[in-house]
Amino acid sequence: MKKTIFDFAAMKKKGEKITFLTCYDYPTACLCEKASLDMLLVGDSVGMTVYGYQGTIPVTMEQMIAHSQSVRKGAPNTFIIGDMPFLSYQLSVQDAIYNAGRFYKEAEVDAIKLEGGRRVIKQIEGIVDAGMSVMGHIGLTPQSSGQLGGFKAQGRAAESAMELIRDALAIEKAGAFAILLEAVPPEVGKIIAEKCRIPTLGIGAGMHVNGQLLIVSDMLGMFEAFTPRFVKKYANLSETIEKAFGDYIEEVRAEKFPQEKHCYRMLEGELEKLETLLKKSLIFN
Ligand code: KIV
Repeated sequence: MKKTIFDFAAMKKKGEKITFLTCYDYPTACLCEKASLDMLLVGDSVGMTVYGYQGTIPVTMEQMIAHSQSVRKGAPNTFIIGDMPFLSYQLSVQDAIYNAGRFYKEAEVDAIKLEGGRRVIKQIEGIVDAGMSVMGHIGLTPQSSGQLGGFKAQGRAAESAMELIRDALAIEKAGAFAILLEAVPPEVGKIIAEKCRIPTLGIGAGMHVNGQLLIVSDMLGMFEAFTPRFVKKYANLSETIEKAFGDYIEEVRAEKFPQEKHCYRMLEGELEKLETLLKKSLIFN
């Protein structure tokens, strides 16, 4: 049974941790659903993990919709959140509602996520008023990483931590069902988790928040450009994949692959008929 925003609220009340991964494609989504992840984020991190961009800014609505559709196909019974890409919600509330609606209509997501605190409150209110569910996202917000001085932890000093707390409370008041905290100290994660009634999810926000998110390519050991401190690698698929590619190249070159078991033989007696046909054929005369 697919979980709902009410299940997540109940999990927070009961102290049950919410499990959350990013996901960008059909085969991974199938595996995530099989593993019973509570929620999946089709993150605009797809720009870096799949398209090889330097950041998330170039990611378009079309890319996000296409990836969300394939994740929905692979995980029909999992709560899926579509990530609003840069410029899909900043310009106006109308744009924000329209693009959030596209995720719902075209990719059948269960919620959308957008970056920012008080400066996107009107957008959050508008999307919620239009009947959609919103996850806020504060702390290290990659779409504005230039303003933050790069991919840096946020809220490490008291004043900046206060700003994050104010943002979190404003997001809750605007009607969001959950808040994602990225790269903030565990002390700040704890305060926000205690002060907010809605669930707080963390990626690099310590152990006190109500659930954890990791980028699937990071935790599987498939993204090698850089590894933030908050990542734990649960597998090293790069190594496995590199070895598989190496073995394949070696076996093809050494004519060890393919073998008899990988071939589709002709039906009985058909080779002889073909040879007769070839002999009669003009091609070889
Ligand atoms: O796009 C994404 O995956 C995200 C996470 C980094 C939080 O927004």
